[in-house]
Amino acid sequence: MNVGIITISDRASQGLYDDLGGPALKNAAVNNGWKVLAEALVPDEKREIQRAIREQINRGCVLVLTTGGTGVALRDVTPEAVREISNRELPGFGEIMRMESMRITKNAILSRNLAVVVGQTLVICLPGKPSGAVECLSFVTGAIPHCVEVLQEVPTSC
Ligand code: MTE
Repeated sequence: MNVGIITISDRASQGLYDDLGGPALKNAAVNNGWKVLAEALVPDEKREIQRAIREQINRGCVLVLTTGGTGVALRDVTPEAVREISNRELPGFGEIMRMESMRITKNAILSRNLAVVVGQTLVICLPGKPSGAVECLSFVTGAIPHCVEVLQEVPTSC
């Protein structure tokens, strides 16, 4: 499965922070047996986020993972950016990520993690904290292959 990874952070994109979230997600993706085809680092700007997602889809990514911009800070605009370009939202992903994360931190209630479909690509938006991003991905990994197959119109058994 060809995967794209996008880190969304004003500070990392300005070089003030090292991007730790992107590499952590890359490692998790590789451990799942997926091929990371594209990586990007963008500021918390809707247009930049949307452009990076479209670029990775055009390069053949059937799954795009983003990290960052899902919190309550006024600069956090990832959910708004992806909803604007999506055909539909898949609410179960956000529900499970928040429910499972509540066992780890009470702040998980603040998270606006979500998954949407853009064209035929599944886009999953994960928190900015590297360990949180990897944890949230692990909570929904089981549903990803079937979801991607259905979106790519690969014949499936269910
Ligand atoms: N989810 C998991 N599984 N583990 C975490 O450590 N951190 C939370 C939450 N979700 C966390 C988590 C925190 S501290 C915040 S503020 C929100 O995600 C939003 O994160 P973001 O603004 O970096 O996207």
